[in-house]
Amino acid sequence: MEHGMRTLNYLGSKLRLLDFIEGNVLEVAARGSGVCDLFAGSGCVSYRLSQSFEVTSCDIQHYSKVICEALLGGCSISETEAAQILHYAEGEGSRPLMNAFRPLIELEDDAIASRNLETLAAILEHGSVEVFVIEDSDSPLSAVQQEVVARLRADGLTGERSLISRHYGGIYFSYRQAVQIDALLEAVSRVSAPSGRSLLLAALLSTASDIADTVGKHFAQPIKARDSEGNIKPIVYNKAVRDKLAEVFPLYSEWLGRYRRLERSSRPYSVLQGDYMDCLRSLGPEVKTIYADPPYTRDHYSRFYHVLETMTLRDTPQLSTTTIGGRTRISNGVYRADRHQSPFCIKSKAPGAFRQMFDYASATGRSLLLSYSPYDETKPTHPRVVTMQQLLDWAGERYELVRTVSAGEFRHNKLNSSAHLLDASDEAELLIVCTNPTKR
Ligand SMILES: C[S@@+](CC[C@H](N)C(=O)[O-])C[C@H]1O[C@@H](n2cnc3c(N)ncnc32)[C@H](O)[C@@H]1O
Repeated sequence: MEHGMRTLNYLGSKLRLLDFIEGNVLEVAARGSGVCDLFAGSGCVSYRLSQSFEVTSCDIQHYSKVICEALLGGCSISETEAAQILHYAEGEGSRPLMNAFRPLIELEDDAIASRNLETLAAILEHGSVEVFVIEDSDSPLSAVQQEVVARLRADGLTGERSLISRHYGGIYFSYRQAVQIDALLEAVSRVSAPSGRSLLLAALLSTASDIADTVGKHFAQPIKARDSEGNIKPIVYNKAVRDKLAEVFPLYSEWLGRYRRLERSSRPYSVLQGDYMDCLRSLGPEVKTIYADPPYTRDHYSRFYHVLETMTLRDTPQLSTTTIGGRTRISNGVYRADRHQSPFCIKSKAPGAFRQMFDYASATGRSLLLSYSPYDETKPTHPRVVTMQQLLDWAGERYELVRTVSAGEFRHNKLNSSAHLLDASDEAELLIVCTNPTKR
């Protein structure tokens, strides 16, 4: 079986640590027993653990559920069905929207071909048709946007059919790519089997993650087109050539093949979407072990991956606003307003959130393996919301045996030994392994 599958360009993905994680879970959990991947994210840990255990994947984000279902479920889409979906999206599925967006598509194509930085910057800064409609504001693109809006209205395409093109076209994707994503979303929505839909949608989420025209391939913010003096940065053109010209349909076809061919374990599995405590409360007795990889910085995943969430929900989100100089406008990132605020990313709430997790896991007789990546002050990463020492203290309140294992050197420490504090060589990822040997 394949050992790992990179589904998304995901912050904090544990793709490179799968051997380490699986090895340590196998030390405390019997092969074939139930293991919960409590913060599953891009699903790579769930997929790997499914090769040795009955996995339950949980995450608050809906896109994570779709990806995990696609990784763990059987492949229910035949090659013929896959080809039909692509055929529809490339042809009649995209034609009406392509026609409506043609003025903006041509404007963007011409700007890339002629290296027109002014237009490319204007597209990044004012390109969202949805924002243009809501704010009714003036921009260098107004006339062309007005024409596109008129065409969308005339053709009855103002709803979900143009969701991604209207919101994110020009900003996170080229207009053409966004139209093609919408066409694929429409094709996927017509598939009746839920497992088939998950696989098809997962391949589209992976495609969107690969082509995102952003620094870091997430959606925390669009590329900032200008420096502090207002000059347009060369990245506006360089990234456009690299990302906005990427071809959606061939890439989607590749991803579909990858998901379809993926070997899956025949063990039972389940996938839950929801808050970690709700997920914990709904675990069955077969789940004896929890692997937890929560966020540790102030960056909410819901902001970094809001576009994937909107693709998954295919709703019409309320958009976040920002007030600058007394003027309230839709935020540049075109974020959904209902983004999940994780207690793990909020300094005042994180201690309570961790303690609840330790309390519940130990009270229900489960071992807990908690990932932690120490903060390296020499690198521009964000500081951690909680310290390693706090985690060890909270774990020690509930578990008899707490040891830390480093992915770098596999050093084992007992909770109360003085050697467990971090030193310079401990910059590698750590696992805090919590067990209650006498209560099992
Ligand atoms: C560090 S990432 C997990 C990465 C994952 N192990 C991987 O390899 O892709 C943390 C995850 O926690 C999820 N999360 C944050 N707060 C949550 C909460 N309150 N309940 C459930 N999931 C949450 C985020 O959506 C994110 O996917």
